[in-house]
Amino acid sequence: MSTFRTLDDLGDVTGKVALVRGDLNLPMQDGTVTDDTRVRAAAATILELAGKGAKVLLLAHFCRPKGERVSTQSLSMVIDCLQSVLEREVMFVSEIAGPVVAQSLGILRPGDIAVLENTRFWKGEEKNDPELVKAIAANGDFYVNDAFSAAHRAHASTEGLAHVLPAYAGRSMQAELEALEKALGNPQKPVAAVVGGAKVSSKLDVLKHLVGKVDHLIIGGGMANTFLAARGVSVGKSLCEHDLAATAEEILDNADKAGCTVHLPYDVAVAKEFAANPSSLRICNVHEVAADEMILDVGPLAVEALGDVLKICRTLVWNGPLGAFEIAPFDAATVALARTAAALSREGSLVSVAGGGDTVAALNHAGVAGDFSYVSTAGGAFLEWMEGKELPGVVALER
Ligand code: 3PG
Repeated sequence: MSTFRTLDDLGDVTGKVALVRGDLNLPMQDGTVTDDTRVRAAAATILELAGKGAKVLLLAHFCRPKGERVSTQSLSMVIDCLQSVLEREVMFVSEIAGPVVAQSLGILRPGDIAVLENTRFWKGEEKNDPELVKAIAANGDFYVNDAFSAAHRAHASTEGLAHVLPAYAGRSMQAELEALEKALGNPQKPVAAVVGGAKVSSKLDVLKHLVGKVDHLIIGGGMANTFLAARGVSVGKSLCEHDLAATAEEILDNADKAGCTVHLPYDVAVAKEFAANPSSLRICNVHEVAADEMILDVGPLAVEALGDVLKICRTLVWNGPLGAFEIAPFDAATVALARTAAALSREGSLVSVAGGGDTVAALNHAGVAGDFSYVSTAGGAFLEWMEGKELPGVVALER
């Protein structure tokens, strides 16, 4: 049972104004959107509301202009992308509140769509200023938050509006919250988590939270080296945060107490230089890394064993690559384990949820993003959720 209202709870919205918070913080190059995933994620909500006859006003931020109008960060730049994904005309409004927005509403007909300017051009946005919240709300009848990926920010458009207008979760927010509930809120056990990436320091809170939640914690990427070093393994020239040895030990102790098995690689791919297919590449036992070598990926034997762990699990949460996956052959472990997870998900034996930064790129690289049960478009918000934090944008939607 969800504790938030969804679009199913809306009455007749014909001619009503929907203020819809999306995430249009899109990757751009030379003024052109290079990845429209987030627009496609928001399309269902926008088109559903327009189809029901609402006037849809889209609210979103782009980059971090810190309360100033920056012409290169105007949301007018995403209009072409919005129009091509939605296959509808989209009006651009250069304000987020006040008479200009009111006048635009006079022009829009029921079912029409407009995007308002970058909310972060106004200082009150990030301060969650009640005056700005009131001014934005004055032009709307109800509020829909469809931006899970911005829900870790307590800003006017992500949090404040939910308190002054009837508030609903959009379809993408709803799907995200339902998937996350299945993954860590109320998961089928045993639960495995894969946490990779370069540094332990950036994911300390994630690791601390997960050891109390999951049955198997698979640590890969550069951060595994920190744990190996803490256990007395010589990691040569590998990326390693030696100063975090005590923290790593504490996490391992807490895992022990909580009955969580931590999996660290026992064979690894090493090389003397970080380059594609280096001549110095070799696979070795983790205890045989030479002083001038770097660990760059989890080895094949460990990957096979990790695949066996996934086979006995019912739920998987994945964040971060297992190796330096941008460069071949150090993508091997990430690709192999992602493919195993994808196959188990397809068979129906595993609920697999992935998200955060590099993770989506890694799964796309392995060609399996579509086979995971759910892939989140969120970066920072997904990590904060993995840390067990409450996300203000989500809390504000709860009944
Ligand atoms: C994101 O891109 O992860 C979200 O849009 C949040 O952006 P922010 O980190 O600038 O708040």
